Amino acid sequence: MTCIKQGVPFQGTAEQEVALKEAIFLLKDTKGSLMPIMQKAQEIYGYLPIEVQTMISDETDIPLEKIYGVATFYSQFALQPKGKYQVSVCLGTACYVKGSGDIFHKLESLLGITNGECTPDGKFSLDSCRCVGACGLAPVLMVNGEVYGRLAADDVPDILAKYE
Ligand code: FES
Repeated sequence: MTCIKQGVPFQGTAEQEVALKEAIFLLKDTKGSLMPIMQKAQEIYGYLPIEVQTMISDETDIPLEKIYGVATFYSQFALQPKGKYQVSVCLGTACYVKGSGDIFHKLESLLGITNGECTPDGKFSLDSCRCVGACGLAPVLMVNGEVYGRLAADDVPDILAKYE
């Protein structure tokens, strides 16, 4: 797992590299191939760290700066991996007015990461999301899809402790 900010090493396998090179070989002479190549790369690795972007650049002769620009512009691309436990806080209106922003900040401070990042040990990643259809339980957070509702920021340490 890699977190660019924390510098956790990239751990791609030789099989993943072969799969990426095959995909590039098949796609690269097609017009507008960069997006499909990047989508395929994300499918193979689960995210698009700089190491994977560099491989794409080397194989396609597309400048790394351009690939990085595309990767950061489109929200479909993740530059960091998801953690073993994916924590997602709903920042939709109903949750926000009931304090989900405080819950999000509490998670940031306890985990030492912010939106879209993961902890250096690869255990937790943190994201925000829009309404997940559980407004009656607002404010809501989810861990790997398990919903916790009617929360206060002080409940966050106990929820995290379940996954330690
Ligand atoms: S706004 Fe959060 S579940 Fe609807």
